[in-house]
Amino acid sequence: MKALIAAALVAACAAGLAAQARQAEKHPVPRIVQNNGRYALMVDGEPFLMLGAQSNNSSDWPATLPKVWPAIEYLHANTLETPIYWEQFEPKPGQFDYTAVDTILAQARAHHVHLVLLWFGTWKNGSQHYMPEWMKLNPDRYAHVVNKGGERVDSPSPFAQASLEADIHAFTAFMQHLKAVDSERTVLMVQVENETGTWGTLRDYSPEANKLFAAPVPDDVLKAMNKTASSGGSWADVFGPESDVCFHAWAIARYVGQVAAAGKAVYPLPLYVNAALRDPFKGAPGTYESGGPTDNVFPIWKAEAPAIDILAPDIYILETPGYLKVIELYHRPDNALFIPETAGTTRTARFLFAALGLQAIGYSPFGLDYTRTNHPERMAPNAPDAFLDPTARNYKLLGPMMRDVARLNFEGKLQAVAEVENQPTQTLHFGVWDAIVSFGGGRGGVAKGNAEPIGRALVAQLADNQFLVTGYDCRVDFRPAGTAQQQEAGQIVIGTDQAPSALIDGKWLHRQFLRVEEGAYENGAFKFQRILNGDQTDWGLDLGSEPKVLRVSLAVY
Ligand code: DGJ
Repeated sequence: MKALIAAALVAACAAGLAAQARQAEKHPVPRIVQNNGRYALMVDGEPFLMLGAQSNNSSDWPATLPKVWPAIEYLHANTLETPIYWEQFEPKPGQFDYTAVDTILAQARAHHVHLVLLWFGTWKNGSQHYMPEWMKLNPDRYAHVVNKGGERVDSPSPFAQASLEADIHAFTAFMQHLKAVDSERTVLMVQVENETGTWGTLRDYSPEANKLFAAPVPDDVLKAMNKTASSGGSWADVFGPESDVCFHAWAIARYVGQVAAAGKAVYPLPLYVNAALRDPFKGAPGTYESGGPTDNVFPIWKAEAPAIDILAPDIYILETPGYLKVIELYHRPDNALFIPETAGTTRTARFLFAALGLQAIGYSPFGLDYTRTNHPERMAPNAPDAFLDPTARNYKLLGPMMRDVARLNFEGKLQAVAEVENQPTQTLHFGVWDAIVSFGGGRGGVAKGNAEPIGRALVAQLADNQFLVTGYDCRVDFRPAGTAQQQEAGQIVIGTDQAPSALIDGKWLHRQFLRVEEGAYENGAFKFQRILNGDQTDWGLDLGSEPKVLRVSLAVY
């Protein structure tokens, strides 16, 4: 009998392991891959474009989740970003409560969306407000930053060893649990802490911190920051007016790097940190949250927190030059562009396309649920969905085609742009073709820019003479561009005919539409609906306010 039971147990175990192996094959752990400076977030083995929405801070509770899911559905988002609160997760030291994690996982699966979970741990917007009560009530042990005057600041000290150990312990338990319960890979990434740094003082001025500040700058920091100062130099010697912010970034990055490494060791999901930005043009120390992954201390964060895959900007800058500058700064050969928070307004929604033009792997406006706990003014009683509409428009268009968009972008075949004020046309170069995107032009009329800068376009090269075209509030046309050698020889003159043309190698070449197909994505594939011709193509391809996807074959005559 005993032998029979043992054999049954062995068989059950083997069946369980086989099921796990099948699951792991079907759903490998999401990861970020890089090829020639281009990135992809791999989900189920293929590039995935995360079209997300972040909930309000206090929405991840059973009482409020019913006000989150209808918004996610309305948006056509494929991912919800939502917090895991340390204070809920570890109400007593070492006692972990997994109910919130399990609830959000079960509900996300029921709604067929992925999750990015935000670990509201030691830092939340520069403060320690999500530390459990037992830590908050013991600031001698779980120390705060102190300012120059020796006063405690509302910010955790990165030198508090007890806090670091507690965070490592809790974050590891959280990641371990995720690994155990998420073989479906509902969770794509985890954000470690939230907007780390400190407001109100540039760094910790505790005696321990001051001692380190006066000591030589560690070699890895010197190397990362490309400094040639002799290794005896103190932080002030080496970094001058930026010394306090560099020092604070080093201290915080080291702390977060250890938390992230411990979590990643148990479950290697992609991890990222988010930055409260400094002004990308004139962000002087004291004008922004010091210590977080701002653009000036990027190399310090990369060197001290290698378990963090991405340094990501929270973009609440609304004007065009600032927004575009930020995405340019966070799109680097050593960093994928990922926007975990931004404003989802009518004017800013177009920047998703500018981000795709820089190979963004994901994007997620903040506060998109119906709890009204943030920005209640955005939820007008007579238009309760208006605050969702700008993002919903983007996702309605891109959602069904997101796998192709992510793949083409990873392969380097895709370009995308957002309208810029006083710049009614933008030209995208694709080898022997240029795509001309124009805003605010009518049939045959000169483009003047839209009344509001809301235009956006995406063009991807499917074959030498075939393109995928989509966007809103713009026109797209194509012009022969000649070969690279012909371009270099500088012989190309642009024509002014109705059909865009160019004088190449002494010969006028005109663009000819062989076939313009309008279609829609179904089950991830373009499905032909009709051929556009005549008024629909004679002045270029008109992308208005309705979602439209075109597949365009070109020739010259
Ligand atoms: C940025 C933070 O990261 C979010 O959690 C939230 O506090 C927003 N700011 C503002 O509502």
